[in-house]
Amino acid sequence: MAAEKNKQKIRILKDGPYIVSGGVPLIKQGIGTDDEGNSYQWTLKITYPLKNTYSLCRCGKSKNKPFCDGAHLKTGFDGTETASKKPYMAEAAGTDGPVLTLTDVWPLCDHSRFCQRAGGIRELIANSDDPEAKKIAIEQGQNCPSGRLVVWDKETGKALEPEFEPSIAIIHDPQKKCEGPIWVRGGIPIESFDGTIYEVRNRVTLCQCGKSENKPFCDGSHWLTKDEMENWRSKWNKKDDQV
Ligand code: FES
Repeated sequence: MAAEKNKQKIRILKDGPYIVSGGVPLIKQGIGTDDEGNSYQWTLKITYPLKNTYSLCRCGKSKNKPFCDGAHLKTGFDGTETASKKPYMAEAAGTDGPVLTLTDVWPLCDHSRFCQRAGGIRELIANSDDPEAKKIAIEQGQNCPSGRLVVWDKETGKALEPEFEPSIAIIHDPQKKCEGPIWVRGGIPIESFDGTIYEVRNRVTLCQCGKSENKPFCDGSHWLTKDEMENWRSKWNKKDDQV
């Protein structure tokens, strides 16, 4: 399997699916919520049989999701990649706390909402000299599937990243009654249609519904309406430097 891991890759086809190669395990996971409806843990729903190569739908129209069934050819799917190819840290804004810091690239948000519990991650970071606040801030940062949010230990200067075997999870969002993005974990390279490789990251969420305006990455369009998305974007555009 070690040799296979070196071959693991996701290749994006022009206006077509993601081609996954190298025997990447595929599962489906749900967003578990607490009594107040806040996202706080992952639940396992399905483990798919392991295949060496498979294609995942990117247009949202397959009748055999998460796999591509060729529907993109009939529907005229425009899969143009519009996301930035700059490294995460080149675009990150920061929030400083006493023990932890937070970096944030908001256009990567997939709206899984793990950062909202217990007052929200920024308040927790601000109070990170409190052990409970610190613990929850780290949990929230690590549960952020897109890696939009990264929590750092100030003393060591290290990112507190979760450990993942290379794998893919299809996210199910029961609260919003929809499928979410394709969650790529463990540093699997993602090759653009033009042959360039996006920065290899431990956590990435790819668009599965075909509606993201930040393709190939998810932007939450699978459940946010156009108006909600517009409002959300303008809020973050205004506070670019003060996450
Ligand atoms: S990308 Fe092929 S059916 Fe959706």
